[in-house]
Order: sequence, then C-alpha cells, then structure tokens
Amino acid sequence: MSTDSWLDDTRASYDTVAASYADIVGPMFDAEAHLRAALAVFAEHVGPGAPVADIGCGPGHATAHLHRLGLNASGIDLSPGMIGIARRNHPECAFEVGSMTDLAYPAETLAGIVAFWSLIHIPDETLPQVLQQFRRVLRPGGRLLAGFHAGTGSTLKTEGYGGHPMKVHVHRREPDAVADLLRDNGFTVEAQTLLGIGERLPGAILHARR
Ligand SMILES: C[S@@+](CC[C@H](N)C(=O)[O-])C[C@H]1O[C@@H](n2cnc3c(N)ncnc32)[C@H](O)[C@@H]1O
Repeated sequence: MSTDSWLDDTRASYDTVAASYADIVGPMFDAEAHLRAALAVFAEHVGPGAPVADIGCGPGHATAHLHRLGLNASGIDLSPGMIGIARRNHPECAFEVGSMTDLAYPAETLAGIVAFWSLIHIPDETLPQVLQQFRRVLRPGGRLLAGFHAGTGSTLKTEGYGGHPMKVHVHRREPDAVADLLRDNGFTVEAQTLLGIGERLPGAILHARR
C-alpha cells in the first residue's frame, strides 16, 4: 500500500460521505458531553484567543466549538468535500484542505492541536511522521488532544454514513500504546479519558503537552 493510494482512498471516501457525515455525526457531537468536556479542558490549558488547529476536522463541528470556547480555531482536512461543508456551516472559522502528513503551518506557531478520530486513518508506520509534524508546528508547551478508537486491529471500511461506498482503513489502538508513541515523539502525556467502556467501539482521548 503506497502512501499516495491510502491518502487518495481516504480523501475520496470522505468526499463521498461528507454531507451525510455532517448530518449524522454533527448531532452526535452535540449530544456527547465527554467530548465537549475534553475540549473545555484543552481550551483552559491553551488560554483565551490562542491559535489552535483541528486537524482532520471533517465538517468542522469541533472547530466551531473551540471558537465558541474563545479560541482562534482553524480546521484542516484531507477532504475538499468536508472543507466545503465546514466553510458553509461555520464561516466564523478558517478551514483549509491539507494533510496531517505534511502540515503547511510554520514551526512553533500553534498553541494547540485537536485530532479527533482522524489519526484512526493513519497507518502505524506513518504515525511517527505525523506526530513529528504536530511537534514541529506546536509551540513549546503546546497542547495536543487526540481522540481515537480504542482497541486493537485494523479494518477496511467499505461503506458508511448512510450506506455510501468507502475505501478507508480504520486502525484501533490501545491508549497505552498511543501514549508510549507520544512520549517517543517528544510529548508528555497528562491525562486520558476512556469513552464507551464495554461498548462495541470504545474510544479514548489523550491530553498531551509538547
Ligand atoms: C472519522 S472523521 C473525523 C472528523 C471529525 N474530526 C470528527 O470528530 O467528527 C476522519 C476525518 O479525518 C480526515 N483525515 C483522514 N486522513 C487525514 C489526513 N492525512 N490529513 C487530514 N485529515 C485527514 C478525513 O477526511 C475525515 O474528515
């Protein structure tokens, strides 16, 4: 699997589902107090007006919430379809197409990064490159909030969000393994939240500091 092919497949998949993803997942975000609580902790750490990026922002619901929390929030996503919806639904935030494998932000310019369920599409061998990108663009002491599917194993998702065709690899990871990887790449892990304990698809959120 070449780098280009999985990125291209992921981009095309999320372009296909962008509208239905926004319709289905937007209300789920609004109903999930634990996610908003994690974002509130993140906002308190980075401080009012701080420049932060929501990387793999999808239709931008978390980005808009960061804006409501008083941060200078922007969003990046691989999928132009997702970015089009984010711009339309949340004109108060800046959104750009881009990949977390090669971020366009200058070094040490961000006070924080949120990556909610976007690292799940990055293969193990590429994760260190992505975490080094995060480290590069964060200021010393900058914050990383990473949410992902907890567990082990990878699956190829072939449809989703109302039955639309997709071709996207989904990687589940143990929170302790992700925490070790963060430490290996220059982060201090401060806290973790476990979500959906005992459910089919549990999640985890790690709070880390550069
Ligand atoms: C499961 S969705 C999560 C969206 C949003 N963060 C949320 O919590 O609802 C995964 C998102 O990650 C984006 N994504 C996947 N790989 C990416 C990459 N290499 N760079 C930037 N975004 C990526 C996808 O386009 C998609 O919008």
